[in-house]
Amino acid sequence: MKSTLLKITGIAAASLAMLSLQAADNELVIYPEKTGETISKNIYGHFSEHLGHCIYEGFWVGEDSDIPNVRGIRKDVVEALKEVDLPVLRWPGGCFADEYHWKDGIGPKEKRPTMINTHWGGVVENNHFGTHEFMDLCEQIGTEPFVSINVGSGTPQEAMEWVEYMTSGAFSPMANLRRENGREDPWKVTYLGIGNENWGCGGNMRPEYYADVFRHFQTFTKSYGDNKVFKIACGASGDDYHWTDTLMKIAGDKMDGLSLHFYTLPTGDWSKKGESTGFEEDEWFATLKETLKMEEMVTKHSAIMDIYDPEKRVGLMVDEWGTWYDPEPGRNPGFLYQQNTLRDALVAGINLNIFNSHSERVRMANIAQVVNVLQAMILTDGAKILKTPTYHVFDLYKVHHDAKFVEFQLNETSYDFDEDSIPALNVSCSKKEDGIVNVTICNLDPTEANQLTCKLPGAVVAKVTAQVLTSDVMDAHNTFDEPEAIHPVEFNDFTIESGELKATLPAKSVVLLTLNYE
Ligand code: AHR
Repeated sequence: MKSTLLKITGIAAASLAMLSLQAADNELVIYPEKTGETISKNIYGHFSEHLGHCIYEGFWVGEDSDIPNVRGIRKDVVEALKEVDLPVLRWPGGCFADEYHWKDGIGPKEKRPTMINTHWGGVVENNHFGTHEFMDLCEQIGTEPFVSINVGSGTPQEAMEWVEYMTSGAFSPMANLRRENGREDPWKVTYLGIGNENWGCGGNMRPEYYADVFRHFQTFTKSYGDNKVFKIACGASGDDYHWTDTLMKIAGDKMDGLSLHFYTLPTGDWSKKGESTGFEEDEWFATLKETLKMEEMVTKHSAIMDIYDPEKRVGLMVDEWGTWYDPEPGRNPGFLYQQNTLRDALVAGINLNIFNSHSERVRMANIAQVVNVLQAMILTDGAKILKTPTYHVFDLYKVHHDAKFVEFQLNETSYDFDEDSIPALNVSCSKKEDGIVNVTICNLDPTEANQLTCKLPGAVVAKVTAQVLTSDVMDAHNTFDEPEAIHPVEFNDFTIESGELKATLPAKSVVLLTLNYE
């Protein structure tokens, strides 16, 4: 339901001003000549972990599989990810990373030792997917690798040797070992995560302690030749601002990026998170209200980083985000497999809009996780594959990759539910080098369409094209029997008159408007 109480939200880069007044419709004023930071394409990054069927079955089926593959990596998943221009892929974890010993995952597969994946289902990990296979995957997709180093149970020597193995072109012990294993040239590996969730599964460290551990490990993760590494420190969980403050104070000058992890749980309660499908409007509302907290978190963590790094040298890297629901009945609860619906599409659209608007500090984000785990882009079942509503949002939003943030002012209505309310719309705009402006708009209201008047001062729009992702039901999703049940379609419920674009945004929708100026 929509209330007549209107909020005026003026967003100039990351600054937010709000006031309330009475009005009927939503108004968006776009200033195409007022551009801000470049929106890093890495905001559209992904995360893959040795967890459930992300790596095994999701990517890796082995050379002998009947599923079409290139050197053991399934072709259909690679093709789908190439389509969305996946810019960067984080691996091998997650919590798994701080138990992973990279030397177990190189050399002849039959000689690789096994291990127990203690975090995720207690299954036996055969290490058939290791460094060479991950780099091959990145090369096949055309994406940049982001490698998470084991800090929790590893040593600085192990970390140093892995970086040398991957990136050194010298005739040095680790580079020679790589050559023995069939790879002559070093790989380019820019992004290194120095530990993961070291406040939790990565060692239960206090921030003061981890800050020193980070200083120690980063000393030995070196840049070899012209491979310049970008060192990412483990950042806060959600609203732990003390963690960010301590890390910036003690180690800010030694890092290039600081991470942030924030998951969206419908209930906000880890003991009973909520279902991925079959929910009612109360959970729809609660999920979107919860995910909107990302705006506050990014703003507050950035403000702390500004104190220590006013030049904004250090990037805020939201390297885990997305929805997390209760495990599906009948599946291994440690595998974190969940369906993905139109609600997830809204979550994706809202968060990506938020990251775009903070691109002066947010340099990367990695949704968790890319295949078969949590808010996945792709689900697989044997040889079958489907693209989720989240996938389709990433596909629509790829127009923002490396485009310039465009300032806008949004005067919007609210979406009210059960005596509570959140903004009805969520927007971001960017401009490509060729001058084309792309506007992505989420209508959070699941029952009512929203009227939007879009004003474009100082510019004459010659042509508008648009697409929409929506459905009649809140939990619309694709299945292996019906993989195209929900996908973007052309949107034409708009008019352009006297320089104003008037659109009717369907309830529960993500819309992309592409504006070509004269
Ligand atoms: O993405 C699943 C898990 O969530 C990751 O392994 C961990 O870093 C986080 O707690």
